[in-house]
Amino acid sequence: MDHRELRRCLGRFATGVAVVSWASEEGPRGITVNSFTSVSLQPPLVLVSIARSARAHDALRDQPFVVNVLSAEQVALAWQFAGRPQGVAVSWEQNAIGPTLPGALAVIGCRPWRSVEAGDHTLYLGEVVDFSYRVGDGLGFFSGEMVVVPRPGSAFQWACS
Ligand SMILES: Cc1cc2nc3c(=O)[nH]c(=O)nc-3n(C[C@H](O)[C@H](O)[C@H](O)COP(=O)(O)O)c2cc1C
Repeated sequence: MDHRELRRCLGRFATGVAVVSWASEEGPRGITVNSFTSVSLQPPLVLVSIARSARAHDALRDQPFVVNVLSAEQVALAWQFAGRPQGVAVSWEQNAIGPTLPGALAVIGCRPWRSVEAGDHTLYLGEVVDFSYRVGDGLGFFSGEMVVVPRPGSAFQWACS
């Protein structure tokens, strides 16, 4: 199978973009993900899929983490936490679970629930222990590109019924 073609095919599924952050001994750390998925309401569970090759992979084992759902204004942060430095000075805030990114559209604090090995990735399931959110334009990832996802009712929103 042609993995590059498969990746292009799977990229037709539009997603949001989030930074998963956690507290390490060296300070706050984060990784950009688009594998964030809501899983269950009772109990409240979410998951992220993390590559074995990523530094986050071992760090997230049994580790509380925060999912910061990025807004359209945070595209530089998305690239920075994907390993492409943008020269952005990150000003972390702290909640009960770990470091958070101010300006995120949603902040979801999780404690570790289960992890499932899946090929070259591990699925980290977290139990949501606190959350907050705000109105704003979303950041999306579609066909390998970052895109703006205008908020409902925005002048930039295409008619869609
Ligand atoms: C839009 C986008 C989504 C990504 N989603 C994931 C993901 O869900 N899981 C993952 O392991 N890596 C994902 N990555 C890649 C990681 O962000 C990237 O490999 C990261 O730099 C790894 O961190 P490290 O260099 O500290 O190991 C994504 C990258 C981008 C740009």
